[in-house]
Amino acid sequence: MLIMLGLGLVPAGAAAALAVALVSLAAAAWWTVGRAPLRAQGVGGSRYRTGSSSAATWPRTGGSTGRHGPGRCRSGSAATASRPACCPCSGNAVRDHGKLSFTWFGPVPRVMIPDPDLVREIFNKFDQFGKPKMIRVGKLIATGVVSYEGEKWAKHRRILNPAFHHEKIKRMLPVFANCCTEMVTRWENSISLEAASEIDVWPEFRNLTGDVISRTAFGSSYQEGRRIFQLQEELAQYLTEALQKLFITGYWYLPTKNNRRMREIDREVRKILLEIIGNKERAIKYGENSNDDMLGLLVESNTKQPELGMSMETTSVLLTWTLIVLSMHPEWQERAREEVLHHFGRTRMPDYDSLSHLKIVTMILYEVLRLYPPVVLLNRRTFKETELGGIKYPADMNLILPILFIHHDPEIWGKDASEFNPGRFADGISNASKNHDVSFFPFGWDPRICIGQSFALLEAKMALSMILQRFSFELSPSYIHAPYIVLTLRPQHGAQIKLKKI
Ligand code: HEM
Repeated sequence: MLIMLGLGLVPAGAAAALAVALVSLAAAAWWTVGRAPLRAQGVGGSRYRTGSSSAATWPRTGGSTGRHGPGRCRSGSAATASRPACCPCSGNAVRDHGKLSFTWFGPVPRVMIPDPDLVREIFNKFDQFGKPKMIRVGKLIATGVVSYEGEKWAKHRRILNPAFHHEKIKRMLPVFANCCTEMVTRWENSISLEAASEIDVWPEFRNLTGDVISRTAFGSSYQEGRRIFQLQEELAQYLTEALQKLFITGYWYLPTKNNRRMREIDREVRKILLEIIGNKERAIKYGENSNDDMLGLLVESNTKQPELGMSMETTSVLLTWTLIVLSMHPEWQERAREEVLHHFGRTRMPDYDSLSHLKIVTMILYEVLRLYPPVVLLNRRTFKETELGGIKYPADMNLILPILFIHHDPEIWGKDASEFNPGRFADGISNASKNHDVSFFPFGWDPRICIGQSFALLEAKMALSMILQRFSFELSPSYIHAPYIVLTLRPQHGAQIKLKKI
């Protein structure tokens, strides 16, 4: 396809590249001036280079960038087995420029705040720090309450809260149980009695969590809900591929193949959602259905947005890393199994009360969330000129709250920060690290703390318990340990596990 660009007719791809380069340069020049006061105040950072993006190297924990080596470790490597730090990891900017530093997201600098006390201050000063301005395409994936501010956020959060009350979540347990039963039965049928069989559990868990969220959120419109989550998964791939260009004004409107597909997906998601919501509205009107489930609340909040876009992704990532890590640490796998068998035996369906009292399993999930937080960082922005930790930030400055980095900091977690040691959570979260409130925050923090935290943990406990009841597992020789970021922290080459019936 050819488009006009003042220079005559040029191929669309070249026009896109040129437009991107011009806007990048302009933006970079502006920011270079804008960040000068930060340097003067001692905030370090690398020079901007056109086309560069720290997003590609930080906190990406896989791939082939960074000074720490190729970032791919074979599964057998005991020293590196449990830490994403075996790959080029979150420390690049800190190592080169000190703890207070900025990294580049395309031509936009973002200051990293790796100090838990300052992170707490940011969470507390809700009126001074908010979510970054959303670029057009970002709205495709992060929609609904997660992206709102002020009164609009408060209203939607109020409406959604009842759907995540523990009584409501308790009522969802049969759905969790059915979906998990389907998965483990499929596994049982696909593997032989004597030998261990290999399964890539990463797509399995994506399927499972997609099933659970579609059934709990969309009820009888489950199939349509499922389609929405599949489309969002595809969208996430496109977004990640285009990550370095997406922040550029107008990029979204360029007629590239990816942009066209992203727009198609957006249209299809909206169409499906409008149909589902229309059906639900009619059902409520004619008394055929109540409005107190998640979909009813969506209707009430009048968002017409897929509020739960990333929720299946985050929970499936948690389950995937848990199986990988328990394969690397058979002693913890055995301790978890003992606890599960003690509560449920080999055949009993896990119930809500016992799931809530699983201590070892909870410690393991926390430790996995510490080492492999599905959401590796949070973004915030200054609403106006603001002082934080002795530095004056201009209005609209983007700040990174680096969950992954803080979760791995030896100053907070001790010398064994990069080791898998669920025992550190034996006396609860508040006693697991040294003297900081906000040192463990895989679900964010108040007031915008993850609304689905209990939902996710209960689902993970149910799935893990049912797996431990039936199978022992170890890493397959084909597994390559390469944590890698595609919106969430994923295993780049899958999670091939050898399962054996017990
Ligand atoms: C292991 C699984 C999950 C993790 C690690 C996770 C992580 C997070 C984090 C870090 C935030 C805060 C974002 C910020 O402050 O910028 C958040 C917010 C949110 N999460 Fe989750 N999440 C998970 C599962 C879920 C599930 C299962 C649901 C729904 C079913 C959900 C729904 C939400 C919503 C609606 C928000 C926005 C809350 C607000 O802004 O008030 N999440 N999540």
